[in-house]
This record gives sequence, structure tokens and C-alpha cells, in this order.
Amino acid sequence: MAQKELLNQIDPNRIPEHVAIIMDGNGRWAKKQGFLRIFGHRQGVDTVRNVVETAAEMGVKYLTLYAFSTENWNRPKAEVNALMQLLVDSIKKETPRLMQNGIRLETIGNVEQLPAGCNKTLTETVEATRNNTRMTLILALSYSGRWDIIEAVRKIAMDAKKGLIDPESIGEADLNAALNTANYPNPDLLIRTSGEQRISNFLLWEIAYSEIHFTNVLWPEFSTDDFYKAILDYQGRERRFGKTGDQIKQVV
Ligand code: IPE
Ligand code: IPE
Ligand code: MG
Repeated sequence: MAQKELLNQIDPNRIPEHVAIIMDGNGRWAKKQGFLRIFGHRQGVDTVRNVVETAAEMGVKYLTLYAFSTENWNRPKAEVNALMQLLVDSIKKETPRLMQNGIRLETIGNVEQLPAGCNKTLTETVEATRNNTRMTLILALSYSGRWDIIEAVRKIAMDAKKGLIDPESIGEADLNAALNTANYPNPDLLIRTSGEQRISNFLLWEIAYSEIHFTNVLWPEFSTDDFYKAILDYQGRERRFGKTGDQIKQVV
């Protein structure tokens, strides 16, 4: 009932084209129930499936999920290994559903750092889903915003060294094109769960003008309703991009 009411309040013509999510709080959720952290990650996969399908139903075109950061490599080895195993198992298991739902899978991040088996499974699913057009699901894996910016700067510097680009002419478009996110629009809405109000090295360049929604809900408990609430919060914002409110309303 409540779900239907929330959905009715959403303006179908103003659905964010790109939603990015920092899925946080798996460990705390597990601890709360007296379980090991990995149990929280497992439960988090169910939330991922639900959010992916809800986003696609609503007409979101790009959904970027922060699944593993560059800094997450510093976690205990057992947790990192368990996360990698969970990643392979989940991708394999979910590929048929991605196909059924018309969802294309892509990745951003230093995926070469992932175990070979993980990389292989990811490549296979990216390949299998490449002609799906309903929504693009982008998994950020071994990703950090600073890593991507450094890689992009290195690429541009190499091109300059080869004489392919004039350093004087370097602009925003060159950096946009050199980033892992080159093929996607910038996120309209960034969601972070678990009550933390920080970016943790996620899409640093790309979120320059994203609306940010923080919720205290832990990722394994993040429901369809919570996703609707985030969209409603977004729709209540006035995106000014540096202009005045009157300019946005075209009163001028
Ligand atoms: C997010 O949950 C998942 C990953 C970072 C892989 P956490 O594992 O960070 O959970 P908390 O923040 O410790 O509760
Ligand atoms: C951010 O969560 C990374 C992912 C969700 C993959 P963290 O749990 O790693 O972030 P911090 O350490 O609390 O900033
Ligand atoms: Mg965390």
C-alpha cells in the first residue's frame, strides 16, 4: 500500500537518467544480527537484484553501483576473498535475469587487479549482455575516482607527448573522454546508504552537479520504498547548475 502511494507521487517524466549508489552498511547489518560480515554482503546481493530491477522498471537508463573500492583491497584477506567469490557466483547466477530484463552489464575500475576467474566471468557477462538496451548496469570494481583521474591524466599526457594533442587545448571534454565513465552521462542522483555522509573516493569528477541523497538505511535493508523515496527527494530538488532560481524557471 505505502509502496503504491510513494510510486504514485513520482513524476514519470522526471526520472533521473543516471543513478549512482554507494552501497554501504553490509558489515554493520550482519554484526547487528550477530553474523559474520560476509553474511551481510550476501544479503546485499538480494538488494542489488531488487534495486537493479526497480530502476529498470522506472526507466533509469544508467545505474552505477560502487561494489568494491581501491581502498577495499586493504580489508582482511578473508573478507576480500569472500567478496571476490561472491562476485563471481552472483554474476554467473544473475546473468540469465539480466538477459530477461534487457540489462547490459559494464564495469569501471582497475578490473585487471581482480582474480583471473572474476575477470573472466565479468568479461563473459559483459559480452553476453552487450546488445541489451533497457538499462546499463555499471559495476565499479577496484575503482576509485582518484585512480580514474590519474589514469586519464596519464593517457592525455602520453597523447601530448606523441604530439596527438596540444597541451594548450586540453579541456573538460578531453578529461571526460579519457575517464572510464566516458560513455555515460554524469549521475543525476547519488545515493549513499548506512548513514555515512561522505563520498569515499567514488565518482569524484562526475558528481560535480549530482543531487546527493543520504539515508540511514543499511544496504541489506534498502527496499523498493527506500529507492522510491530517493527518487522523490531528487524530484523535489531544484538543479541550478550555478544559475539563479529564476533563470531555471525561465522567468529571468
Ligand atoms: C559495503 O558494506 C560493501 C563494501 C564496501 C564491499 P561494508 O562492508 O562497508 O559495511 P560496513 O560499512 O562495514 O557496515
Ligand atoms: C565505500 O564504502 C565503498 C563501497 C561501497 C564499495 P566503504 O565502507 O569502503 O567506505 P568508508 O571506508 O566507510 O569510507
Ligand atoms: Mg562501509
